[in-house]
Amino acid sequence: MDNNCNSSNRQEEQTSQGGAGAPAYAAGQPTPETATTEEDQVLLRVEHLCQYFGSTKAVDDVSFDIKKGEVFGLVGESGCGKTTTGRSIIKLYDITSGNIYFKGIRIGAGTKSYKDEIRRARAEYKEKIQTVTDPAEQEKLRAELRRTVAEQRAQIKAARYDQKNCDKEYAQEQQQKVQEKYAPLLANAPESQRATLQAAYKDEMRKARKTRLVTKIQMIFQDPSASLDPRMTVREIISEGLIIQGERNRQVLDGAVYEMLEKVGLVREHASRYQHEFSGGQRQRIGIARAVVMRPEMIIADEPVSALDVSIQAQVINLLNDLRKELGLTILFIAHDLSVVKYFSDRIGVMYFGKMVELAPSDELFLNPLHPYTRSLLSAIPLPDPEYEKNRKRIEYKPLAEHDYSVDKPSMREIKPGHFVHCNQAEFEKYQAILK
Ligand SMILES: Nc1ncnc2c1ncn2[C@@H]1O[C@H](COP(=O)(O)OP(=O)(O)OP(=O)(O)O)[C@@H](O)[C@H]1O
Ligand SMILES: [Mg+2]
Repeated sequence: MDNNCNSSNRQEEQTSQGGAGAPAYAAGQPTPETATTEEDQVLLRVEHLCQYFGSTKAVDDVSFDIKKGEVFGLVGESGCGKTTTGRSIIKLYDITSGNIYFKGIRIGAGTKSYKDEIRRARAEYKEKIQTVTDPAEQEKLRAELRRTVAEQRAQIKAARYDQKNCDKEYAQEQQQKVQEKYAPLLANAPESQRATLQAAYKDEMRKARKTRLVTKIQMIFQDPSASLDPRMTVREIISEGLIIQGERNRQVLDGAVYEMLEKVGLVREHASRYQHEFSGGQRQRIGIARAVVMRPEMIIADEPVSALDVSIQAQVINLLNDLRKELGLTILFIAHDLSVVKYFSDRIGVMYFGKMVELAPSDELFLNPLHPYTRSLLSAIPLPDPEYEKNRKRIEYKPLAEHDYSVDKPSMREIKPGHFVHCNQAEFEKYQAILK
């Protein structure tokens, strides 16, 4: 894969994650010892993601990765930052800080942590320089500071470059692949077939030029009626992305629309209708068809059933599950209720007020919930067991009463392999003791 520009957007080229005090590796990600074997399977990596809106820290230092073929559930109450996380991944925002890698390519990069580091270093060195009197010593310190600032500036430059160019580079790669495919064919083609082959080559090149890496991640939105244009027919909605990608052949477009409609449990005749003619469940099926038609490798399903009747929620979940198996999709499944993600997710991340507070394999999280907020979420799930229901008590989460972070500061720590909790050292020891 050629990438001879001065960017650092390949994951393997990254040596440091930048940012003051950034841990060497983040929650849910392979530790350095295991990285070489597991690295290949990681499709999406979110590293120290921060997305601030003014003083609102909608997402604050969130890290996780999603392996190929995995369903990763992201849960937490309303306003905790789930949608913002999803929208940051598909580049609807210029993220504040952190890195997002997809297929090993950095598709999102923020700069705040580097700027903060420059500010911190300047303050630190200013103080240091004041305390020494030897001019030579002072100059040495100044040189150190200049080096630190230059390093951070290089990171900022690389981040901006990647943010802007990742799609372009991916498109270049796709064009190269088309060239490699057609070069030998064209060289060996008999005169009679050359024109047809040339036309096919030109068409594929045109589409390759328009390819955008980020379209390999598609999002299904929380509210299907708000996310589908009421003035467009279902045919227009489903084929829009393909047209943007350069598909012009009417037959190909129609074929794709009909295939998708069938896949999501609708029929051809629906293609010429408008969204208001459908029920909520059907609308969400259209939303799914619009996403899946792009042949994504990953789907972000943002509370895809929360706006639907309970009776049809299961149908839509089952549809997603079938598509996942059939198409080998990787899914980030967002919900605010643990019961929805329980049977569907391989691993689950629990968010609270912009932070990831616990991350574990699904079974493990239900068996050994450690963070008090997770326990509180679990206590809210009703079970079809009258005896259990009689004794079920809702545990309320009171962060101020629960944690003392005044001195001993919290971070994401691995309590046992694969099970991470946001906690400080004292809590870490307590959680380890519980698991023993
Ligand atoms: N574009 C924006 N501008 C300013 N603030 C925003 C924006 N988008 C989200 N927020 C704020 O960020 C926080 C997280 O919002 P987000 O929509 O990500 O939550 P959520 O977990 O998806 O909630 P829900 O379950 O209700 O969908 C909220 O406080 C919200 O008000
Ligand atoms: Mg949301």
